[in-house]
Amino acid sequence: MRAYDIIARKRDGFSHSKEELAFLIDGYVQGKIGDEQMAAWLMAVYFQGMNNEETALLTHLMEHSGDTLNLSAIRGIVVDKHSTGGVGDKTTLVVAPLVAAAGIPLAKLSGRGLGFTGGTIDKLEAIDGFQTNLTPEQFTEQVNQIGLAIAGQTANLVPADKKIYALRDLTATVESIPLIASSIMSKKLASGADRIVLDVKFGSGAFMEKRQQAEVLARTMVQIGQELGRQTVAVLSSMEEPLGYAVGNSLEVKEAMDTLQGHGPADFTELCLILSGQMLYLGEVAATPEEGYTLAKQCLQEGRGYDKFLQMVQAQKGSLAHGLPQAQHRHVVCAEQSGIVQAIQAKEIGHCSMLLGAGRECKGAAIDLTAGIMLHKKTGDTVQAGEALATLHYNDAYKHRAEEVAQKLQHAYTIETETKEKTPLVWKII
Ligand code: URA
Repeated sequence: MRAYDIIARKRDGFSHSKEELAFLIDGYVQGKIGDEQMAAWLMAVYFQGMNNEETALLTHLMEHSGDTLNLSAIRGIVVDKHSTGGVGDKTTLVVAPLVAAAGIPLAKLSGRGLGFTGGTIDKLEAIDGFQTNLTPEQFTEQVNQIGLAIAGQTANLVPADKKIYALRDLTATVESIPLIASSIMSKKLASGADRIVLDVKFGSGAFMEKRQQAEVLARTMVQIGQELGRQTVAVLSSMEEPLGYAVGNSLEVKEAMDTLQGHGPADFTELCLILSGQMLYLGEVAATPEEGYTLAKQCLQEGRGYDKFLQMVQAQKGSLAHGLPQAQHRHVVCAEQSGIVQAIQAKEIGHCSMLLGAGRECKGAAIDLTAGIMLHKKTGDTVQAGEALATLHYNDAYKHRAEEVAQKLQHAYTIETETKEKTPLVWKII
């Protein structure tokens, strides 16, 4: 078999056999097939696509390209959750303790943020001393003891995705549904979950801006889960505007803690309850997703989710004794005109937050955990000229950017006199 022939088959619109895909993926991970041939194949997939069977096979091969996490030592059905990413998306910080409090063992491997989107591990590291590097033994032991652990991914989990994703990034082949679906699902499957809830975002701050595209991605991932024996549900949710009011690591942890104490923003709280309801249903703690929603709401109202969060912080050596760290400076951005907020470009807000130091401009860069943006107005809100739209939080190192960011933030808001129908928070559940 030759990589050349595999590339030519995909270029000409044929589908691959298991042997062909295995030859390609194994060969690439082992360095026997070079970047130039893999890049050509990725471009062929970009144009010709892959059928469901090929996509599931690719996912399976990628899943097994390195270590996989064995969670069989954890008692009960392990349900995982994944978000395709967005701005102000701190749902894991609320959903994980809520479902753990309701009785599902939650063993979650999370990532770091890149570009305009944030990552759960960075957010948790805003808590003084919080350890995200757990050994597999510490991880499973903590889940068995308190029902919840959130840790960073180990170095050798799905190496095929690490290599392929880096190449896709350089060759304009990221935006391919089978490649995105296999990349996300291979990591979920290698992380050992029995059942999976996916939060697939659409809108201005999402990876897939169009609802229809997001739906195809969601259906592809659900299908992969089914083919590979893991029950999977996808919630299609809006990322037309940032989720909640807080964007930036420490600010988002504070908002998540407020939410767990019953004082969270309405949109964010609702999405957390919907996702928790689905997880409790898949974990067989609730007979229906609706019953799961009610159960999650009870855990929230009774403070049991918050207690679980505090237990996790303590178990992972974090301390909230001195509160969360805060940035040195604030800059209030005010509306230039009166009206109703029609839209807030989520991606622009994420970009503004990154420019203040809260996000990584490139992989591996250091970030400022205290920086970010607190929105004061969301779509549908009435605003008077001169009233605060948002507050920038930043430190000395980013002071020179504050004015530029304030201008950008102004432009991210659309304020008009008429009301426009708001995009529903959850569009579909698949
Ligand atoms: N997130 C991933 O993990 N992979 C992709 O391909 C796109 C988004």
